[in-house]
Amino acid sequence: MQANVVVEITDWEAAELHAKLIRETVFVREQGVPLELEMDGEDVACRHAIARTPDGTPVATGRLLPDGHIGRVAVLQEWRGKGLGREVMLALLVEARALGHAEVALNSQTSAVPFYLSLGFAPYGEGFMEAGIPHQAMMLRFA
Ligand code: COA
Repeated sequence: MQANVVVEITDWEAAELHAKLIRETVFVREQGVPLELEMDGEDVACRHAIARTPDGTPVATGRLLPDGHIGRVAVLQEWRGKGLGREVMLALLVEARALGHAEVALNSQTSAVPFYLSLGFAPYGEGFMEAGIPHQAMMLRFA
């Protein structure tokens, strides 16, 4: 992991300000996802990961839905390739196990499939389009 980067798991009340900023930067401004699709009303029921740099700046996020789906995994562009996405995912996987899930699932953007493969996820089913972006369903069953 990037030295001294801390990943916290919180509720939406604590995560909202930072998660919204990161997700709007990555999904809405960078990838062109409509804001109304990005903010889908599910956040209040989710557990959220927030990764911060040593000076406290939030730079990456992700969420775990009550049904065991992981989503909205995003790292600010200048912080990619440093292991932060992996650390966000590992924190969400630990949380999912602690909450008693036997498996987790996600809809990966096709370009991010190698990232999730490296974390042990396996693809299932056919690829599909969501928010104008090609996706692939993937899952990970805990041993
Ligand atoms: N293609 C291939 N491999 C990738 C990859 C990609 N696009 N992105 C990451 N990886 C690999 C890394 O090489 C690394 O492998 P290693 O452990 O063997 O070295 C592993 O995945 C972890 O990489 P990491 O540095 O933690 O990834 P990251 O911090 O850049 O985060 C994303 C990955 C996808 C979350 C980040 O690129 C991102 O926010 N992208 C834009 C938003 C997005 O597409 N989110 C996914 C929605 S499904």
